[in-house]
Amino acid sequence: MPTQKKRLREILEGAKLVPGQTFVELGSGDGRMVRLASKEFKMKGIGVEINPLLIWWSRLLAKRQHIHNAQFIKQNVFKYDLSAAYVVYLFLMPQLIVKLVPQFESQLKKGSLVISHGFKIPTWEKKLFHEIRSEPFATFYYQV
Ligand SMILES: C[S@@+](CC[C@H](N)C(=O)[O-])C[C@H]1O[C@@H](n2cnc3c(N)ncnc32)[C@H](O)[C@@H]1O
Repeated sequence: MPTQKKRLREILEGAKLVPGQTFVELGSGDGRMVRLASKEFKMKGIGVEINPLLIWWSRLLAKRQHIHNAQFIKQNVFKYDLSAAYVVYLFLMPQLIVKLVPQFESQLKKGSLVISHGFKIPTWEKKLFHEIRSEPFATFYYQV
C-alpha cells in the first residue's frame, strides 16, 4: 500500500528539509516520495526497495519526470547503510520497524530525522517531536 498522493507534500513540508541533503526512503514502492523530495524539495533522493519491478518502475517514472537527483537501489532495507542519510522516510509494518531500530541507533548521525508514516517507532517516544494526525494513517517525526 503506497502513501496517499494527497499526503506526500504535507508530509515533506512537516520535515523542514534542507536542499541537497540525502533523503532515504526505506521500502520506496513506486518511488513517489523520493521523486517528490528530489524534484520539488531538491533533496538527493535514494529509494531502497526489495521488489525489482518497483525499482524498474520508479526509475522509469523518474526518467519521464526528468529527475536526475534520485536513485533507486534494489536491496533489503536491513542491508542498507544509513550513515549518509539526513532524512529517512518509511511506511512499513510495525514488525519491520522494530527490527530497524538497532540499525537507526547505530548508523544514523546525530541531528538526522526519521519520518514514519502509519506507525510509531517503539522505544523512541522521547525523540518524537512532531505528528500529523490524519486518516487512515498518521505521520510521526523523530529527531535522532
Ligand atoms: C507499504 S509499502 C510503502 C511504499 C512507499 N514507501 C510509499 O509510502 O508509497 C512498503 C514497501 O516496502 C517494501 N519492502 C518491504 N520489506 C522490505 C525490505 N525488507 N527491504 C526493502 N523493501 C521492503 C515493499 O516491497 C513495499 O514496496
